[in-house]
Amino acid sequence: MILSIESSCDDSSIAITEIVSKKLIYHKKISQELEHSQYGGVVPELASRLHAEALPRILEECEQWFDQLKAVAVTNEPGLGVTLIEGVTMAKALSISLGIPILPINHLKGHIYSLFIEQEAILPVTVLLVSGGHTQLIEVTSYTQMETVATTMDDSYGESFDKVAKMMNLGYPGGPLIERLSREGDASRFSFSVPLSQSPLIAFSYSGLKNQVRLAVETNKTSAYPDIAAAFQHTATEHLIQKLKKYFKSHPPKRFAIVGGASANLYLRESVSKLLTIYNVELLLSELKYCSDNAAMIGRAALEAYTEKGFAPCAEITINPRCKL
Ligand code: KG4
Ligand code: ZN
Repeated sequence: MILSIESSCDDSSIAITEIVSKKLIYHKKISQELEHSQYGGVVPELASRLHAEALPRILEECEQWFDQLKAVAVTNEPGLGVTLIEGVTMAKALSISLGIPILPINHLKGHIYSLFIEQEAILPVTVLLVSGGHTQLIEVTSYTQMETVATTMDDSYGESFDKVAKMMNLGYPGGPLIERLSREGDASRFSFSVPLSQSPLIAFSYSGLKNQVRLAVETNKTSAYPDIAAAFQHTATEHLIQKLKKYFKSHPPKRFAIVGGASANLYLRESVSKLLTIYNVELLLSELKYCSDNAAMIGRAALEAYTEKGFAPCAEITINPRCKL
């Protein structure tokens, strides 16, 4: 079995995965959403302190499997430096005390392998990764062969939902709150321009849209917020769809997937699904419970790292907050 640890942002999570069967034996996650909600975003130092409390509490429940562990996997990049260090320190302690090797795991690869929890990987796949920190289009050929073909020039898709929610004083994380508010709104009552719609670039940008929304929030009454939220969600998603259409012209995908915390958005899922019907392309999705950060996806990625013998000596494991793929 492999024990995996995730602490790259505001979720403390540990999982245990059986190597041969890929079965998830144990999985627990303690989210810090409530604690950060009053600040309208994640406060890194507070997140770090909460991981230091939560991770050992979860680990206690895993002791019964310690003698069956072949490796400990941990997210070491990318993420918040002060929170990554909590998971990595725990992994190092386990490695030394149990005499097992460490598998450092890239968080983005974890999101990609959230598609294949308790199952074989289905590759190649073109992946749209939409989270709080990233908006990327990735061609995934294998665990070790992944190419980022488009990325955001500024904010990420999920982050733009967080920022719009903050403007409306809705709390954190903004994604689910904006999605819920949008259901009560009429998207046609506000018209925001779609970012980079005239540009041939296959890239993403959300800062301009965020400013358009800010102006609408500041110049309208709170009763208009559902309509603004719906128009924002529509435009933010339409931006992704337009760029996907452009990309598919030269690179028709064999199969397609959406991963990351924001892939839980049903409007996005429906919009991408409609687009893929035109191309007759299969859409792979993670179960809703595995879209946001969790250790089960890190454990699933670790199964591939284990096969690739991607172990690193304890002393050489460093955290890398900004790394991409
Ligand atoms: O993957 P994740 O849990 O953490 C990062 O790696 O960043 O993603 C969290 C992000 C947050 O920005 C959150 O607002 C967004 O995903 N999110 C959503 C939805 N659920 C979560 N964005 C849009 N719609 C949602 N339903
Ligand atoms: Zn994530």
